Amino acid sequence: MKQTVLDILALSHTKEMTPQPSSTTRPPLFTPMEGTKLPLPKPQQLTPPSMALHEAITQRRSHRKFSQEPLSLEALSYALWMTQGVKKVVDDRATFRMVPSAGARHAFETYLLINQVDTLSPGLYVYDAQTHALVLLEEGKAKAHSLMMACHQQRMVTDAAVCFFWVAQVERMSARYAQRSARYLLLDAGHIAQNLYLVATAQDLGTCAIGAFEDVELNEALGLNLSEQTVLYAAPYGPLERTE
Ligand SMILES: Cc1cc2nc3c(=O)[nH]c(=O)nc-3n(C[C@H](O)[C@H](O)[C@H](O)COP(=O)(O)O)c2cc1C
Repeated sequence: MKQTVLDILALSHTKEMTPQPSSTTRPPLFTPMEGTKLPLPKPQQLTPPSMALHEAITQRRSHRKFSQEPLSLEALSYALWMTQGVKKVVDDRATFRMVPSAGARHAFETYLLINQVDTLSPGLYVYDAQTHALVLLEEGKAKAHSLMMACHQQRMVTDAAVCFFWVAQVERMSARYAQRSARYLLLDAGHIAQNLYLVATAQDLGTCAIGAFEDVELNEALGLNLSEQTVLYAAPYGPLERTE
């Protein structure tokens, strides 16, 4: 049979969705996280940037040159809140967040390589969206090099104050949307990254989408279990070098 563009894009599918999973088969809304929680500044207490939406959209661009200036914990907290912050949890069935998500599945977890953020030790962290806190996975600078190498040696991964890695917890989407979940995960990732772009612009900080990486190497460097999760998108974030 002739290959279609859907096959080429690996987006062929059978059904739109599987039956709504029952409460016993439904995957958890949040990936259980072990480790000490480091609470982030509360979003309600943060001062939002004053830039108008029109300005943020028109001035948005990709930045690849970052300064060694540390990022404030408030700015990181705000960026996490605006990209994946949880506004509402409906029973144990769905979450509503700052971005849209197919079927309100919100299948992403945010991993963070912290290079230089006020009061945080460098290391690999994960964002606990449920409690708006960070969980330290591995302290130290050892991970930074392998993450940067896996991203085709893009130096912005280690130069920026932080690098976001958006990791799909695939069953949270596939339990509902079966083969169609590949498409929805990719679309959802775009919404998250665009919010980070707009927040960065409004905060006079920088970011750049990263889709170019070695899948297996990056998943390994993040310590992910490829039978359940995969990284789909990344973005450095932080103060910019002013010579650009
Ligand atoms: C899906 C996607 C993947 C991208 N991957 C990379 C990347 O790996 N490295 C990079 O330097 N830029 C990457 N970019 C940024 C684009 O190069 C950038 O958006 C484009 O050149 C337009 O520039 P602008 O964002 O400043 O408007 C990516 C952008 C998108 C949307």
